[in-house]
Amino acid sequence: MSAGFGKIATGLQGIKSIEDFDLKDQRVFIRCDFNVPTEGPVGQVKITDDTRIRAALPTIRYAMDKGAKLILASHFGRPEKKEDRALYSLEPVADRLGELLEAEVILIEEPTSDAPKALLPGLRPKQVLLLENLRFEEGETKNSVEFANIMASYTDVYINDAFGASHRAHASIDALARAVAKRGCGYLIKKEIENLGRLTSQPATPFLAILGGAKVSDKIKVIENLMDSVDGFLIGGAMAYTFLHAKGISVGRSKFEKDKVSFAKELIERVAARGKKLLLPVDHVVADDFLAPTRIETTSTAEIAADRLALDIGPKTAELYRKEIARAKTVFWNGPMGVFERSEFAKGSFAVAEALAQLSQDGGLAVVGGGDSASAAEASGFAPQMSHISTGGGASLEYLEGAKLPGLEALRVLRESVTPKL
Ligand code: 3PG
Repeated sequence: MSAGFGKIATGLQGIKSIEDFDLKDQRVFIRCDFNVPTEGPVGQVKITDDTRIRAALPTIRYAMDKGAKLILASHFGRPEKKEDRALYSLEPVADRLGELLEAEVILIEEPTSDAPKALLPGLRPKQVLLLENLRFEEGETKNSVEFANIMASYTDVYINDAFGASHRAHASIDALARAVAKRGCGYLIKKEIENLGRLTSQPATPFLAILGGAKVSDKIKVIENLMDSVDGFLIGGAMAYTFLHAKGISVGRSKFEKDKVSFAKELIERVAARGKKLLLPVDHVVADDFLAPTRIETTSTAEIAADRLALDIGPKTAELYRKEIARAKTVFWNGPMGVFERSEFAKGSFAVAEALAQLSQDGGLAVVGGGDSASAAEASGFAPQMSHISTGGGASLEYLEGAKLPGLEALRVLRESVTPKL
């Protein structure tokens, strides 16, 4: 068994669950993460993946069944100016949520108005309130106590189920939680922390981390924190080219981070010194251009010609990684192996997804760390067979880096002091 993570994640200790409260006729504020991918212009915005909405349903349904007066809230995108309002309205979310819940979702334009307080007492069983995009309020990202106190004034019980946003110290995540005595987490946060906890506390070995995506710099902290607990790293995506360059292998016109080459070199040495593996692509799918490729080829070695750029791992690498995954008992995957959004460059990520689905079916643990790798897992069609796909990209990574998530810390209630018996 592995020794576990360098830094111990504190998990759900001291955090109450939604089941610990009597919700009947209580005004229950559930912070969700409805930050879903969308497409289309203003007025025709369509949700392209409703995973995050569906993931919030168990908590919402539980509260509805218990007779709560529900206020739901979320951020959506990163609106910067007034004109962004139309594009970032939660209206499409309200529609989708209404369909899934078979309930009336009443969108409250102004969370700071009297509307929530006025409407809550009269809510009927199949009605819920949804506050408009919290980031339309200046106080949200500033963690404003004033804004939080307004929301607290119509909240009896506060539930955070927005795992994907729990790494943000924002008003609805941090200040509001601290302003409400009855506070706890929902089922999604519980599920996320339990699954990520299976990686942090004595994971079955061999334990592998598959890391991909654009930048080594995004993964430095997680690599550092995983170093002692994993048996090996499998590297793909653009970050692989920084490592290959560090080993003196030509990467052609592939993207790599010049200022991270020495870190990559040092890391290769540290991993080897610990007797662990760090596998890099042994072949690639390359093209002559990113936007309009006219020639797409597979290299026979790790070397990339000067006029080519790599956009996916090659078939030999996919097979090598598949075999490694098949031998493992625990795998954490964060970051795609290539530009999986384009079918010509999706095979590497899909091969990893298939191997992880197989591992999960064979009794191993495969955890996908949200974000782009979750999208790649979904696109591959293998997502339903995997042990756990996190709904939080940044949040799951920060959790595994050993960081304290503001959204969890604000929920912890200090143990009541015990008076010793004489
Ligand atoms: C996410 O999509 O990762 C979460 O919803 C957090 O969004 P943010 O990065 O805009 O804070």
